Parts: sequence; C-alpha cells; structure tokens
Amino acid sequence: MDSLPKQLKGLIGPSILNADLSKLADESRRLLDAGADYLHLDVMDGHFVPNLTIGHPVIKCLRKNIPKVYFDAHMMVAKPEQWIEEMAGAGVNQYTFHIESTPTENIPNIIRKIKEADMKVGIGIKPKTDINVISEFINDIDVVLIMTVEPGFGGQKFMGDMMEKIRWLRKTYPQLLHIEVDGGVNMKTINDCAEAGANMIVSGSALIESKQPNKDMEQMRQLIDESLKSKKFNIQLTNDQHCSH
Ligand code: DX5
Ligand code: ZN
Repeated sequence: MDSLPKQLKGLIGPSILNADLSKLADESRRLLDAGADYLHLDVMDGHFVPNLTIGHPVIKCLRKNIPKVYFDAHMMVAKPEQWIEEMAGAGVNQYTFHIESTPTENIPNIIRKIKEADMKVGIGIKPKTDINVISEFINDIDVVLIMTVEPGFGGQKFMGDMMEKIRWLRKTYPQLLHIEVDGGVNMKTINDCAEAGANMIVSGSALIESKQPNKDMEQMRQLIDESLKSKKFNIQLTNDQHCSH
C-alpha cells in the first residue's frame, strides 16, 4: 500500500530492526515481495530508549530504492518535534511518536506539525503507560500504537496483558480506525492481537527469521480480518468510515 486505507482491515508491517541492516533495501524488498502491506522503521536515539538504530538519512536512501511503499517511522526519540520535517523529506508516510517522550502540552503542536508535513499521525504507548492518556488526542490522530514490549530491542517476549488496552480502545472509540501492535508478535501471539481488535500488525524477528514469510503474513492478515468481521466487533468493511485527514 502507498497510503493508509480508509477501510479498516488487517495490515502487516514487518519491522526490519533485526534484519541484516547492511542489506536494508534487499531485506525490505524481500518482505514486500512476500506480501507485507507496509514497513515499520524503528528509529532510536539512545536517549528515549537505550539503543541506537537508523535515522532520516538512511530512510531517505531506502526510499530511493523503494519508491511507493508506506513507511511508518516509529520514533523512539526524546525530542519528537525535532525530526518531523526531516522524516517527511526522507519520504516517511506515518510519524509515530511516543506520548511519554514529550510534555502533554506539546502534543497538539506536534500533531499539527506532522499533519502540515503531510504525514499520518501515530501515537505510541509504552507498556507501563495508562491508556486513558490517549483520550484527549484520539480524534486528531490516525493510529494508536500499543507497545507489547518495552521499546528498545527486537526479539523480546510479548506482553499479553496489553491486550486489555486494545480491547478498551476498540470498544470505547469505534470511530478510531487503526490500532497498531508492536513487540513480540509471532504466529502464536497474533491470535491475542486479533481477538483484542488490533488491525496493524508489526512483527520483527518472527518474520525476519521465518522460512515462509509469505504464508505467515497471509495467515496473520486472515486472522485479523476474520476477527474484525466477527460478531464481536461487527465492523462493516465500507469506505465511508472516519479518517482524520
Ligand atoms: C521495539 C521495536 C519493535 C520491535 C519489533 O522497540 O519498536 O518494532 O523491534 O520486533 P519483534 O517483533 O522482534 O519484537
Ligand atoms: Zn517499533
């Protein structure tokens, strides 16, 4: 996909964090050829999380190799306001920053700047953060990202107790389209994500290491779509649902 669909459906976004980063474009293309819907790019600055990864110069190069695909930049950085223009210039489509990374009073301004830079707005929530804090921003953003590990590293264990946050979001804000889940998602834990009502699935090490990423992604997407259409959520897959911009 090259933009966020207005229709709610399962979308699989591999995280390339645990891939061979010297072959970033090849690895990305391999996963896209296997059916990935978008790419989840983990940006870390060594301050917000105790790790360093890639920044906008690398993403800009990746964009030259991969012209059309939707890039979700997961900004695990201490100053999310600092990189908005750079990321837009590098070809990022969705700027997902952390609610914990900045004082609450800065958030409306950050959201506005992301929109002005023509990107979709995602807000990430760490495991220990209460989900209620998102309420005052929910109508102004496109995606809520629920972390199911402490951000910073790939290959950690999935925290199943985070599913309560997803259930609450899907129930409380039926107008919210996209709920993204990130951390420890694999062929087992995908069932919990589907059951809770998530639709954007980030999966790193499980897909990178898989011998059949095409089948795995197809199965993940099917599980999500079946759950969304089930009586529990009863989500009509029409084109006229709310989308903030
Ligand atoms: C963690 C990152 C995740 C993670 C995904 O800080 O945001 O995107 O690397 O990788 P797995 O699926 O291996 O947890
Ligand atoms: Zn991530």
